[in-house]
Amino acid sequence: MTSSILTDTYTLANGVTIPKVGFGTWQIPQSQAEEAVYNALTLGYRHIDTALAYQNEQGVGAGIKDAGIPREQIFVTTKLPAETKTYAGAKQDFETSLKNLGLDYVDLYLIHAPWPWAKRGNYDQENKDVWRAMEEIYQSGRAKAIGISNFGVPEMKNIFAGATVKPMVNQIQYHVGYTENVITKFAKDNGLLVEAYSPLATGRLLQDPDLTAIAESYNVSIAQLAIKFCLQNGTLPLPKATHRDHAEINAQLDFTISDKDMAKLNSLEEE
Ligand SMILES: NC(=O)c1ccc[n+]([C@@H]2O[C@H](COP(=O)([O-])OP(=O)(O)OC[C@H]3O[C@@H](n4cnc5c(N)ncnc54)[C@H](OP(=O)(O)O)[C@@H]3O)[C@@H](O)[C@H]2O)c1
Repeated sequence: MTSSILTDTYTLANGVTIPKVGFGTWQIPQSQAEEAVYNALTLGYRHIDTALAYQNEQGVGAGIKDAGIPREQIFVTTKLPAETKTYAGAKQDFETSLKNLGLDYVDLYLIHAPWPWAKRGNYDQENKDVWRAMEEIYQSGRAKAIGISNFGVPEMKNIFAGATVKPMVNQIQYHVGYTENVITKFAKDNGLLVEAYSPLATGRLLQDPDLTAIAESYNVSIAQLAIKFCLQNGTLPLPKATHRDHAEINAQLDFTISDKDMAKLNSLEEE
């Protein structure tokens, strides 16, 4: 593995460093997660993104163990389910995640979403209660950083208003054609790192004719171009790959997209 991008880091507001490319694990079933995570780590990835809701934390934990890399060299994120909107529930789910992963701490713990997936609405008070639990988990040292995911500007403001520890990360959907500029700017202005989930639009970008010619001009695949696009916009991509060859190519990012092409990519809008 020649690329250093997997060990290059961003620094969070609390000083914790986070590898600039994470390995996503959504929709990797428990039965395949061990191998996928082992592959990623042996390819050089040092940042793994999972969630209690992905139902693969045990496999992820097993893959981490198999790789035999010192724990402090790996950055592990997991998430509190979107449906858990109580202080006690948050504490309990965190214990479950640690147990599933077989770890005694995670590097980053996120609230998965501001509302339960099937019940969008105003959960301002509930999110404040949950954030109190997140802060206590952080203060205990068992999550080295805490944050949020899928939070828009009003939901971020609600957390900031009651927080003693500000979230360090907002993980949002972010890819060519979908860059959530208002949310991204607000998060960055408030010192949060923006993590780009679905950097390949869950695979949809891979057939995009607008991207084919640009990718070819750099002699790279659309996947590489799309991941590099996130990095050059200062976000942290989390590409997911069940296949080892995908994981391998996604880490080969030793090229620079020109300002002109970045402007073009930034102007595209998903249909
Ligand atoms: N916080 C949230 O609510 C949230 C929501 C969605 C995602 N996420 C996080 O973000 C991660 C990534 O998002 P995502 O899972 O939606 O998908 P993605 O990374 O945008 O795309 C993954 C898809 O692209 C394929 N792929 C990857 N690299 C490829 C390559 N080089 N060539 C061809 N195909 C390639 C994968 O195939 P194979 O798997 O077959 O290799 C898979 O089908 C998730 O796994 C998760 O960790 C978070």
